[in-house]
Amino acid sequence: MSALSLKNLDVSYGETKVVHGVNLEVAEGESFALVGESGSGKSTILRAIAGLAPEWTGEISVLGKPRSHGVDRSVSRTVQMVFQDPYGSLHPRKTIDAALSEPLAIHGIGNRGERVEAVLAQVGLDQRFRFRFPHQLSGGQRQRVAIARALMLEPKVLLLDEPTSALDVSVQAEILNLLKRLRREQNLTFLMVTHNLPVVSFLCERLAVMRHGRIVEIADVAQLKQGELNEPYSRELLAATAGA
Ligand SMILES: Nc1ncnc2c1ncn2[C@@H]1O[C@H](COP(=O)(O)OP(=O)(O)O)[C@@H](O)[C@H]1O
Ligand SMILES: [Mg+2]
Repeated sequence: MSALSLKNLDVSYGETKVVHGVNLEVAEGESFALVGESGSGKSTILRAIAGLAPEWTGEISVLGKPRSHGVDRSVSRTVQMVFQDPYGSLHPRKTIDAALSEPLAIHGIGNRGERVEAVLAQVGLDQRFRFRFPHQLSGGQRQRVAIARALMLEPKVLLLDEPTSALDVSVQAEILNLLKRLRREQNLTFLMVTHNLPVVSFLCERLAVMRHGRIVEIADVAQLKQGELNEPYSRELLAATAGA
């Protein structure tokens, strides 16, 4: 069974269709990257899976279960999204404790304090951060909190939208190492948007190259590393980002 299955997925914003006929299977435990130029529809695919882009047609299945349009509680327990900007994704007047407890409260889950402590430890944050506010944390610490929040409901799949691109280069590797460790420890499946091909090689097994809302090629990371992408556009993208 696939962790994620997209069949003939179209996604629109109002009159404008921005994702066209996407087919994708991500296996359980796999880490899969979406790459491609800005505006090619990568984030929109993640949003449609997460229920944040409701105007879609086709089929989105999570662990074999087709998701409905709109709010789907079973999907939000199994699939969580981590956004690029940890400033924007954390409420400035809520403590870390409140931000982490909220998903549990929404889903009526108890033992919140214990769960918050456990997840802080999992993402490598000292317990003293628990009652602080986002502005008292560094960018990297905030992104750890955003990842912790995504883990609160013990999901199976993380949708990662450029999870390190808003961070200082010195902090990016720490977060990538954290994601790699969490995936191993918790048998997570990743679907990750990035424009950074070394990140794809570090964290993923396969990738899809997107252009103008369509997948132009699906390849293994081994092919990427050897520069053996087939489509001219993929090779262009590889050349443009080489050494970046
Ligand atoms: N909320 C929105 N309303 C209207 N158009 C949007 C919205 N979000 C994204 N778009 C458009 O959809 C297209 C795909 O965007 P996006 O999925 O964000 O691309 P990517 O993540 O690959 O940069 C772009 O043309 C973008 O301008
Ligand atoms: Mg995007």
